[in-house]
Amino acid sequence: MLIKRARGWEIPGSEATPESVFLSRRQLVGGGAAVAGATALGPFPAAAQLADPTFDLYPAKRSDAYKLDREITAERFAADYNNFYEFGSSKTVAAAARALKVRPWTVKVDGLVEKPFEIGIDELIRKMPIEERLYRLRCVEAWAMAVPWTGFAMKAFLELAKPLGSARYLRMETFLDKSVAPGQRQIWYPWPYVEGLTIEEAANELAFLVTGVYGKPLANQFGAPLRLAVPWKYGFKSAKSLVKFTFAEERPKSFWEALTPAEYGFWANVNPAVPHPRWSQATERILGTSEMRPTVIYNGYGEYVAGMYKGMDAAKERLFV
Ligand code: MTE
Repeated sequence: MLIKRARGWEIPGSEATPESVFLSRRQLVGGGAAVAGATALGPFPAAAQLADPTFDLYPAKRSDAYKLDREITAERFAADYNNFYEFGSSKTVAAAARALKVRPWTVKVDGLVEKPFEIGIDELIRKMPIEERLYRLRCVEAWAMAVPWTGFAMKAFLELAKPLGSARYLRMETFLDKSVAPGQRQIWYPWPYVEGLTIEEAANELAFLVTGVYGKPLANQFGAPLRLAVPWKYGFKSAKSLVKFTFAEERPKSFWEALTPAEYGFWANVNPAVPHPRWSQATERILGTSEMRPTVIYNGYGEYVAGMYKGMDAAKERLFV
């Protein structure tokens, strides 16, 4: 394992000006307009992000409850290495993803709820307690990153949705529009992208609905305008660009599970001891570096989540991968 040691001239990430602070200073000085042509990959918000009707909410106050054991991944790496199969199976999907129109955007809540409803994304975001959280993300392909997500606790969303007592699962669905998403023209994939959680998992304090990253609204490749972050599970559970939340009694079948059931299960909790058929899960590569780290069970979030799986037969239930 490589251990990164800061050299004399390097300031540790913890001492560098957080980008969010830098951004708010910039907004004061430049009023934003000067950077209207900036790229989504750089540290400045792109024109689309500046035009976001909720831009004034960023940067949100950072919660100090969620600590990282590593430095925040530089934005230029996180924003240029994405999985978003709707826009292609390579990691460089940022340019293609710009075709997705993220306003107007409606979120539908249905199934086993007191009253199904639809809500515009801006109204939803303004109703919710927005905060910033530092989370790790571990992809099943054995790379990892650490990012400052902005968003709101899924628990707050559940309070708005009011599921009935009979609801046991939450099914989440990504947009479906093959006129903008070339990947969705590939008929061998079971579009739209679907993921699911148990209600207990959705109510766990870590489950987070993400609207922004790096102190500004999400750039499209990250899953604008609304994506999930469940950091104790492999990244494929964190579905992007969500349009529908359905509460149900039956367990939903997720996109990857429908496509390759031998490789992907429903639970997908991170575990270094259970290899995926194609990737050992023992270690992870830190995005943007050559550093390898040992992977930790539940991606290091066991204290929050292990209790939910107590008493379950890990092999029979396929709790991992
Ligand atoms: N959501 C949708 N709709 N489509 C996808 O292809 N890929 C998943 C997940 N959510 C994916 C998705 C996978 S495999 C990972 S690892 C994460 O998004 C990657 O998130 P990132 O691109 O923000 O790093």
